[in-house]
Amino acid sequence: MIREILKMGDPRLLQVARKVERFNTPELRTLIEDMFDTMDHANGAGLAAPQIGVDLQVVIFGFDRNPRYPDAPMVPKTVLVNPVLEMLSEELEDGWEGCLSVPGLRGVVPRHVRLKYSGYDLMGHRIERVAEGFHARVVQHECDHLQGILYPMRIKDFSRFGFTEILFPDLPANSDD
Ligand code: NI
Repeated sequence: MIREILKMGDPRLLQVARKVERFNTPELRTLIEDMFDTMDHANGAGLAAPQIGVDLQVVIFGFDRNPRYPDAPMVPKTVLVNPVLEMLSEELEDGWEGCLSVPGLRGVVPRHVRLKYSGYDLMGHRIERVAEGFHARVVQHECDHLQGILYPMRIKDFSRFGFTEILFPDLPANSDD
């Protein structure tokens, strides 16, 4: 089921999310299905449970090709529950980000280039991966949502923050969110 996506300003986006304690439950399965329906409908690259008003440490991300980010390399479709990130580079890299909770805007955000992420899938099976570049960026963005952090809070250079339709006039019309 497609769920409503909360927008910046909603205090539920500023909470630290609770850990999932039981895996492979009908509730968790339905949550993850709803998150994929909602993300796919909005052409998102990722989505965190707090964005649909669910106070749990669940993120999803991944796509083969994404019309909102036409130059981005493929990222494997992933469900990540109770994620833990370990940065593998001090080095930060600037890159453009958008967020379904901040519709119509894009900004340049510095992110760690390389990291290890771990957590669990729906069934409670352990996931452990090393990622870099856009993949690492998406993971950092989504896991920030679980700490109540939205990407505009990470922007250092506000001269590179603005409306998608002005910054990227060639993107398809439904990419303004
Ligand atoms: Ni977001």
